[in-house]
Amino acid sequence: MRIVLLGAPGAGKGTHCKRIADRYGIVHLSSGDILRRERVEGTELGRKAQSYMDAGALVPDDLIVEMMIKAIRQAPAGYVLDGFPRTVNQAEVLDKSLAAEKTEIDMVLNLRVNDEVVLERITGRRSCPKCGTVYHVKNMPPKVPGICDKDGTPLVQRPDDTEEVVRNRLETYYRQTEPVVDYYRAGRTVHEIDANGDADAVAAVIFKKLEPLARKKKGGRGKKA
Ligand code: AP5
Repeated sequence: MRIVLLGAPGAGKGTHCKRIADRYGIVHLSSGDILRRERVEGTELGRKAQSYMDAGALVPDDLIVEMMIKAIRQAPAGYVLDGFPRTVNQAEVLDKSLAAEKTEIDMVLNLRVNDEVVLERITGRRSCPKCGTVYHVKNMPPKVPGICDKDGTPLVQRPDDTEEVVRNRLETYYRQTEPVVDYYRAGRTVHEIDANGDADAVAAVIFKKLEPLARKKKGGRGKKA
């Protein structure tokens, strides 16, 4: 399965991509997570990306495209893309790269969420710097406040999760990323998901959309070429 999950900052892309990857045994490829790892490791890419991320702007396409195409090639059994593509140019390069390998994206889902919900979700997000588990102080709190349920590590807040930077990220989203939805609409069905509800309810709607594709792929795997 090759899936693209689109949506504004805080729409729940990371939350739902993780569930999708776990259920179908595919790889969750988050451009934001990969960039944050590069920053922690102090690589050249991480250093170049830092100022853009901290300001809520997009990292230049050339850096992102190379990084993501490489990650996609390392996931031949399937993937769900989170945070990529984020510009029309990125979407075009992705399509061309897949076409060159005689593959294509199987399904595009777009999580729609109101701006007030985004602000509330992002400013309340906390994550574990060790295992990456994401919590929300009100909606999905850890059992002990401020501590990861899985490994006991103190939770942290992302530096770009302040209200001021979130507003910039939203502005960037409407200007540069919403056109990606129209790009996909021009050539295929984009499955619109109301993502304002609680995470389990949203997940149920997503899986309803994905199940027929999963069945088709499973059937296909058993057939002889
Ligand atoms: P990235 O890490 O991709 O950030 P983002 O798109 O802004 O998305 P978020 O991670 O903030 O939100 P999400 O939709 O994953 O929500 P989550 O599930 O965590 O990118 C960061 C930066 O990297 C960018 O600003 C840019 O600089 C750079 N970058 C990345 N990709 C790039 C690209 N392709 N090109 C150029 N630059 C790029 O949920 C948020 C919170 O809400 C959590 O606390 C969660 O627990 C909670 N929550 C989620 N769903 C629900 C729900 N249904 N109900 C209640 N709470 C919920």
